[in-house]
Amino acid sequence: MTPFHLEVRNVRKSFGRKVLFDAVSFDVRLGESFAVTGKNGSGKSTLMKIICGVLTPNGGSVRYVVNDKEIPLSHVAPHIGLVSPYLNMYEEFTGEENLRLFAKIRGIGVRQDDIHGLLQRFGIFEHRNKEARFYSSGMKQRLKYCAALLHRPALLFLDEPTANLDDIGIAVVREVMREQRQRAALVFATNESEDLSFADRVLDLSRLKIG
Ligand SMILES: Nc1ncnc2c1ncn2[C@@H]1O[C@H](COP(=O)(O)OP(=O)(O)O)[C@@H](O)[C@H]1O
Ligand SMILES: [Mg+2]
Repeated sequence: MTPFHLEVRNVRKSFGRKVLFDAVSFDVRLGESFAVTGKNGSGKSTLMKIICGVLTPNGGSVRYVVNDKEIPLSHVAPHIGLVSPYLNMYEEFTGEENLRLFAKIRGIGVRQDDIHGLLQRFGIFEHRNKEARFYSSGMKQRLKYCAALLHRPALLFLDEPTANLDDIGIAVVREVMREQRQRAALVFATNESEDLSFADRVLDLSRLKIG
C-alpha cells in the first residue's frame, strides 16, 4: 500500500454563533485506526464531512499527502471511501447500477466480478437488480459499504459504522474494520463503546475545550 498521511490541524467549525469545535488536530497514517466519539450533537458527523472535503471548516487545515505528494481535497475521492447517514443512494437505480455510477463518478474502472463479490460479501447480491428505493435501511447501509470499498480506498471513513444493521451485518462490518486497519487506514465516528476497541486513538469531542 502507498504511504500516505492525513494531517488535520486546528480545525474550527461553527454554525452561526455556536462553535462546535475550534482546535481539532490529529494525524492518520498507513496502518492506523482513529475514532471520533462524543455526545449527540457534539460534531462528529460535521468533523467527518470536513475531513472528507464535503464541508469547509471556518479555520484550520486538512491535508492529504500520498507518496510524499500533497493531494488537493478536490482530488481525494479515489483515495477515500465514506459510509455515512448523510450519503444518499440514487433511489431510482438498482443496487448494482448505484455501484457502477459511484465508480464512474470517482473515475475508476471496476470489474463486474469485484462488484458482485462485494454484493455477495454484504449479503445483498440477490437484491442487486432491485431499485434502491425498495431497499430496507439495513440493505441501504450494506450498499453504502459496497460503494465505499469498491476502489479499495487507502482511507475508509465510517460515520456510525453499524447503524441500521442486524447481527450478521455487524459481523461483516467488524471484519471490514479489522481488515481496513491492517491493510490501510480507518477513521470512524461512533457512540458505541464496543467500536472503540478498533481504534488506536480516540478523540472525544464532548471533552474538547472550546475558547
Ligand atoms: N448545516 C448545519 N447548519 C446548522 N447547524 C448544523 C448544521 N449541521 C449540523 N448542525 C448542528 O451542529 C451540531 C453537530 O451536529 P453533528 O455533527 O451532526 O453531531 P453528531 O454527529 O456528533 O451527533 C448539531 O447541533 C447540529 O444541529
Ligand atoms: Mg452524527
